[in-house]
This record gives sequence, structure tokens and C-alpha cells, in this order.
Amino acid sequence: MRVPLEKAVDLLRGGEVVAIPTETVYGLAAWLFKESAIEKIFTLKNRPSTNPLIIHVRDADECAFYASAQPADVYKLTEAFWPGPLTVVLPIHEKKVPLIARAGLKTAAFRCPAHPVAAELLKCVSPLVAPSANLSGTPSSTKPEHVEHDFGPQFPALEGECRHGLESTIIAQKNGLWEIARLGAISPEEIARIIGYLPKCAHLVEKTPICPGQLLVHYAPKARLILSNTPYEACEKKCPVVLGFTDRVYPGAKKWLFLGSLTAPHEVSFNLYDCLRRLDIEGIKEAWVDLDIPHNGIWATIRERLFRAAGATLTLQ
Ligand code: TXA
Ligand code: MG
Repeated sequence: MRVPLEKAVDLLRGGEVVAIPTETVYGLAAWLFKESAIEKIFTLKNRPSTNPLIIHVRDADECAFYASAQPADVYKLTEAFWPGPLTVVLPIHEKKVPLIARAGLKTAAFRCPAHPVAAELLKCVSPLVAPSANLSGTPSSTKPEHVEHDFGPQFPALEGECRHGLESTIIAQKNGLWEIARLGAISPEEIARIIGYLPKCAHLVEKTPICPGQLLVHYAPKARLILSNTPYEACEKKCPVVLGFTDRVYPGAKKWLFLGSLTAPHEVSFNLYDCLRRLDIEGIKEAWVDLDIPHNGIWATIRERLFRAAGATLTLQ
């Protein structure tokens, strides 16, 4: 159910959960000071209590109130990317952040969203904890219809469009260096331009990820995904449904779901979760996914999301 901003403010202040658009994906928001509402988020999403939430702040000053230290370059990074899709993991004043929001960790993840609706909301009620507005493990929501599909038509949601369609990039400092804890809407190359070196993608190389959520199944539709680097026509293991690109042909396929053009990665990221969701809505059991895509920039995130969406059924040809 779409609600106006004033209603969303009342609901959040009263301890309810409201779905909110951000420039990345839809979030399931609760006021940081309403622990019962934060509990509701975990129940609604069926999210393990070990997976902490991102704290959405109105600006860097609000973040500084909760953080107990500001590692080198953090101001440069927030100045460059806030408001926007960068999440920074920082040590906190433990008394100021409820345990439930940070899953008992001594750190918390902070982000200042750029979406005008989220920004307007945060002026009235902040900070807000908000995980992606989807059932745990399934593709994120990028439209109010996705939220209604997962949580029912009566669930309160603010209207808006998620421009990026990919979650924020999460960074943390380890031994004095910034590492990427989750790839996201800001590419490692963009971060390198600010800090002067390419941050390591910690979650792709280490057994114990910085983000507890990286251990869980993610973004996965019910449909089985067959990821492929080989052209469709040359592929032995393929199926009639293709998840691909508008500038390629897939001779012999029966049905196509197009992510967008290979020349427009932002169009592809914008459509990604909607396409993954459509597979299940249309009852498709199996799809062949064109993974012959670049590795640089935002494509790295798109590639990673597709791998994770394919989960244990991942078959790379
Ligand atoms: O774009 C986004 O970041 C969206 C929008 C709604 O803001 N939010 C989002 O939240 O993606 P969620 O809950 O789906 O993912 C948050 C990730 C999880 O992997 C979690 O483990 C990690 O952030 N995280 C949260 N607090 C952390 C902390 N203190 N240390 C390390 N990772 C943390
Ligand atoms: Mg999520």
C-alpha cells in the first residue's frame, strides 16, 4: 500500500516498519530507537539475527555521533560519495547503537542515501536501519510492486524509483587499508580515484567475510540459472529460456528476458533484480544466462550478483 511521506514518518515514529525507496534498492526501514520495530524487520525478512543492518543517516555529522573513530580518508570518501551508494563500516560508541541492529558487533555500517524521498524522510526521522526489502536470500526489490509481492499488498511503502538497482558498495578498513566488503553500485575503480589505490575485494578472497551477510544465500530466484561464457549457439548445456542482452542474438532460444544493452551497464543493473524476479513470476524453472560480459566497473558487481543468484546450481561453461 503506497503511503505519503507524513504517514511514513508517523508509522516509523510509532514503531512500525515502512518500505522506502533508495537510489540502490528498496529498504525495509525502522527507526533506530524502536527495537521492537527492528525485531519486526528480522521476522518479516526471515533474516538471521547474526546479520547486522545498515544504519541510514542524514549526513556525515550524524554518522560521526555514532562512530567512535574515523579512519584515515573516511572524510574524503564520504565527501566524494555521500549522499550516495557507499556504506562505510566504522567502530561505534556501543551504548548509542542497539545490539540487535548491529548483531552484537562492535562496529556498524553507515550510509547516507541520495534518493530524494529517503533524504526527505531522514530529515523528519533518523537514523533509520534498513536492509533490502526482500525475503532473506531472494532478489532485492527495486519497485514498490516487488515489495508488495514479498510482504503483501497492505504493506506500507513510499513510492519511488531505485536508479541503480544494485545495493551500495560496503567498505571497511583493515590494517590501515580500505577493503571492499561487498561490491555494489560504486565500482572499485571509482573508490581508487579517491584513496589512491585499488581496494582489495575482501569478500571474494577470504573465508571469513567482513559482512556476516556474505555467508548467506543471496539474490537467488527459485529458477535454476545456467551461467555461460560461451555463445548460446555453441553451447551444449543450454535451455530454451535466455537471460541476455538486446545487442546479441540467441538463435534457437524460445524465450528471452533482456537485461539491457551491453553498452549500457546502468540499464542492466537497473533491470537485474526485476528480471530475476520475473523468472519466478512467469513460472520459469531454468534459464541460460549470458555471462560473456566485461569485468570492469559496475559489470564486476553485476557478474558477482549473477554468480550468487545462481548459488549452488552455478554451472560455468
Ligand atoms: O544499498 C543498500 O545498501 C541497501 C539499501 C536499502 O540501503 N541495503 C542493504 O542492506 O543492502 P542488506 O541488509 O540487504 O545488506 C547489508 C549488508 C549485509 O551483508 C550485512 O552483513 C552488512 O551489510 N553489514 C551490516 N553491518 C555490518 C557491520 N557492522 N560489519 C560488516 N558488515 C555489516
Ligand atoms: Mg540484502
